[in-house]
Amino acid sequence: MEPLTMHERQNLMHQFITGGFETTQSAVAHAIWLLVRRPELHQILFEKPGKIKKFVEKTSRWESPVQGLFRVTRRDVELDGTMIPEGSYVIIRYGAANRGYREFICPHRFDMERSNAGAHLAFDSGAHFCVGAKLDRRQMTTAIGDITRRLKNIRLAKDLPDPVHECSLAFLPIAEMHLGFEKR
Ligand code: HEM
Repeated sequence: MEPLTMHERQNLMHQFITGGFETTQSAVAHAIWLLVRRPELHQILFEKPGKIKKFVEKTSRWESPVQGLFRVTRRDVELDGTMIPEGSYVIIRYGAANRGYREFICPHRFDMERSNAGAHLAFDSGAHFCVGAKLDRRQMTTAIGDITRRLKNIRLAKDLPDPVHECSLAFLPIAEMHLGFEKR
């Protein structure tokens, strides 16, 4: 097997840094924001930490940290009756797919008991399935476990603006989120 070229190595490092940092940060921030809006979920996770894994999976579907990425078609592709010629730039919208009505009933609802929430595409699928997916799930479970166990009454800080998203085609970054909370 040929060794990787310098360009390929640099590209891989870039993917590790952007793919491993921006995404997890956004995932944790959105999970916290959800706990702010749905304090009853915070209580459930505090009382039943065994449900945190489920919660993490559901947030990945509901607020997908990678919203979309580009691809170039290597052959003509027909998609739902539309012909996409070889060599076209397309953007896959993971965020939209994860809110799709065909796959998920009432997709805009955050439902802890949804049975097929793991069927989301937040980590892509197939050959490019995220190599960091397991690590991310572990990091998220640890972070949300610590937050729900150690903090209470997490809320948006008074007199400060609601969270603001940075403009991004690919990611879902929260630029600012001002919180108040007490220690348990
Ligand atoms: C919430 C967290 C994460 C999400 C939503 C996420 C999402 C994704 C997605 C959608 C892809 C597919 C990219 C493509 O097809 O072009 C991907 C690939 C990748 N991810 Fe993640 N990722 C996350 C965390 C991580 C972490 C923690 C790492 C590493 C420490 C990582 C490293 C990578 C790498 C290296 C690839 C490229 C895999 C390949 O092309 O074979 N990701 N990720």
